[in-house]
Amino acid sequence: MSLNVVILAAGQGTRMRSKLPKVLHEVGGKSMLAHTITTAEDLGADRIIVVYGHGGEQVRSIIQNDKIEWVEQKQRLGTGHAVQQAIPYFNQSAEETVLVLYGDVPLARKQTLQSLLDAQPSESIAILTTELSNPQGYGRIVRNTSAKVEAIIEEKDADQQTKLIKEINTGILCASTSSLVDWLGRIDNNNQQKEYYLTDCIALAVQDGKSVEAVACQDPTEVMGVNDRIHLAEMENIYQQRQRTELMVNGATLRDSSSVYVEGSIEIGNDIVIEPGVMFKGNVTLGDDVNIGMNCVIIDSQIAAGTVIHPNSVIEDSNIGENCEIGPFARVRPKTELASEVKLGNFVEVKKSNIASGSKVNHLSYIGDATIGEKTNIGAGTICCNYDGANKHKTIIGNNVFIGSDTQLVAPVTVSDGATIGAGSTITRDTPAEKLTLSRSKQITIDNWQRPVKQSK
Ligand code: UD1
Ligand code: MG
Repeated sequence: MSLNVVILAAGQGTRMRSKLPKVLHEVGGKSMLAHTITTAEDLGADRIIVVYGHGGEQVRSIIQNDKIEWVEQKQRLGTGHAVQQAIPYFNQSAEETVLVLYGDVPLARKQTLQSLLDAQPSESIAILTTELSNPQGYGRIVRNTSAKVEAIIEEKDADQQTKLIKEINTGILCASTSSLVDWLGRIDNNNQQKEYYLTDCIALAVQDGKSVEAVACQDPTEVMGVNDRIHLAEMENIYQQRQRTELMVNGATLRDSSSVYVEGSIEIGNDIVIEPGVMFKGNVTLGDDVNIGMNCVIIDSQIAAGTVIHPNSVIEDSNIGENCEIGPFARVRPKTELASEVKLGNFVEVKKSNIASGSKVNHLSYIGDATIGEKTNIGAGTICCNYDGANKHKTIIGNNVFIGSDTQLVAPVTVSDGATIGAGSTITRDTPAEKLTLSRSKQITIDNWQRPVKQSK
């Protein structure tokens, strides 16, 4: 049994009022189309065929995925016509299934779609339906007296009686490829919209004496589509609520769950506390007992057990060890590796550096392209002068070093184990172990000096 997923993405999305094709608008930091593609991959699709139209070049260049087969629908003649464009990509064996998904319906769950696939009778079709209190605008599911599905009637073609039906077509369906190809060859555009309706395949299946299965989707938010930016905002809320629920189910306390945002994926241990206004992006891992303070942004990073991130800190593409304390107001930039029990205080920026266990950089410092040993103390206002205007150079600092406040370390430079650097020094040469090194002009006092006074005009 092989699975073809056809994703319809040819809609123009006029109501988005955007230069970006609708399916490229993002939910949770990822385009709607990319969400649908991920779902297709999760279902184990053998082929993924995206039917594109408006803004096709842009769609293809942004969605870089080798697995996708792209097919253009030059004229938008209806959903049936759109699926017809994908037919050349099918093998058309009876063993093959086609699942139709939509680039602007990104929140369908894998389990829901799997149950639809499981329900599909052989050589026939299964449709995903849902009940809406206001079904206006949707195709209605028409059932016969023994409750078997007979047809889908579009709103524009429906009579008053049909319009009262609350069970609607979500648009998502799956069918055996050979049957679907046959039905698509038989549909016409003899309807109010002069379109080739995919939904007309249902009546054809019934005509052929095949039973049509309907699977009810219990959560209507899964099949919600986007037409304008109001829908997009609603969808973002629904998506974020799902992410938050998952965090809480997995053992995190969210002090104000409505203000926590997750873009990407996050793995967590137990007893995590997340304060208000926190945002996670990319792949994030949080160990047991990690505490993330207010207004922090954590991007593509691992934070090990017991570490506390104080408010207003930003951490990107870094590894933070166990029992560290970061911030408030710290910025940890890419390729930073902190071992356990490291402390970074306020207004400290660290970039592409390794800091070994128990070391502290507590105030107002820039640590860039540096390696710092264990139990070293970096005084307030220390700067690694890593850039000479053309190239970056490394600063190596050993174990048990004490760097006095307001020191500039002009890289490349090495400060050996146990060294002490006097405050206010500019260190341009390597400094020996266990010794005090400093560079300062002598302090002098000028006895007869006077402060300038303002001259009257
Ligand atoms: C369709 C269904 C309707 C269902 C509703 C759910 C049909 C005939 N009707 O109606 O039963 O209740 O979706 O939202 O299928 N598209 C193309 N090419 C086309 C036409 C459409 O790619 O030529 C894509 C659109 O971009 C969109 C999707 O197919 O993503 C649905 O098209 P749309 O015109 O919105 O169909 P509806 O009238 O809403
Ligand atoms: Mg629609």
